[in-house]
Amino acid sequence: MKTLLIKTHELWLEILMAGFMSRGENRIKLYDFSDIIFRHFTWLEHHMIAIGEPYDYDRDIIPVKVDRLSIILNNINRRISELDLQIMACPDKNLVQRISSDLKYISSTLSTIKEESVTAFDTSRVLNGIALSKEATDALTLFLFEESYKEYELIMIYNYLQAHSEDAFLNRIFQIMIDESKFHLRSFGQMMAEMGILGVPRTIHKSLYQIEDVRQFLRDGIEEEIAAKEMCKELSDAVAKDSKELAAFFDFINFQEDYHISLMTDALVHYEGLENHG
Ligand SMILES: [Fe+2]
Ligand SMILES: [Fe+2]
Repeated sequence: MKTLLIKTHELWLEILMAGFMSRGENRIKLYDFSDIIFRHFTWLEHHMIAIGEPYDYDRDIIPVKVDRLSIILNNINRRISELDLQIMACPDKNLVQRISSDLKYISSTLSTIKEESVTAFDTSRVLNGIALSKEATDALTLFLFEESYKEYELIMIYNYLQAHSEDAFLNRIFQIMIDESKFHLRSFGQMMAEMGILGVPRTIHKSLYQIEDVRQFLRDGIEEEIAAKEMCKELSDAVAKDSKELAAFFDFINFQEDYHISLMTDALVHYEGLENHG
């Protein structure tokens, strides 16, 4: 079961990466499929919690550097075939049937996807043809590397917290944070692919999501959101004279963080209430 979870985690990320590399309608399909695999991941996780089997979010390195889309799609299909065999080990037969049927459909659809040449690794460092200064390009590059990892980390942390909580108030907040982080990761991953600097986020250490003190995590998290806002503002200023569109995008991300802070504050107050009522 543990391997199954790891393989599903890897498959989710690999399809997401293929989505970043691709353009047009293929991308939308790949995003849908990666979302489906992420849901499989949460269901398998839930099943493991229910049967009391320990697990973590460790995974292997995922090689994604290709110059044609068909290469990564073939790799994904190989992964799917392995997973479709391994899934049989799961005792929840309804779950097995659901996942297996999704996997078969996804695999057959991937084989029909139109070929594309991939430029996500060409290190051009030019975004949508916008001529940025060297300083602005460096700042953007650094931001994308740091923040894409950060968003991935947040998805996994909030997912872990949600998987271990039965509290509807908190789980609503956790779900919003997962969805928001997915949107941010998608936005940043796409930009990295456009700039030819795409990379898979590094793995996350257990201590980051197996959280002992959630209140402290939320307090630190609020500080991090404030720092992220500052980074977005700096970036918006750095690109403003070369691209109004890009500046507006970073202002938009900046203001989204305000809502994250407000939700995290709500969660913190809620935890304090739980603590006080024993
Ligand atoms: Fe974010
Ligand atoms: Fe945020």
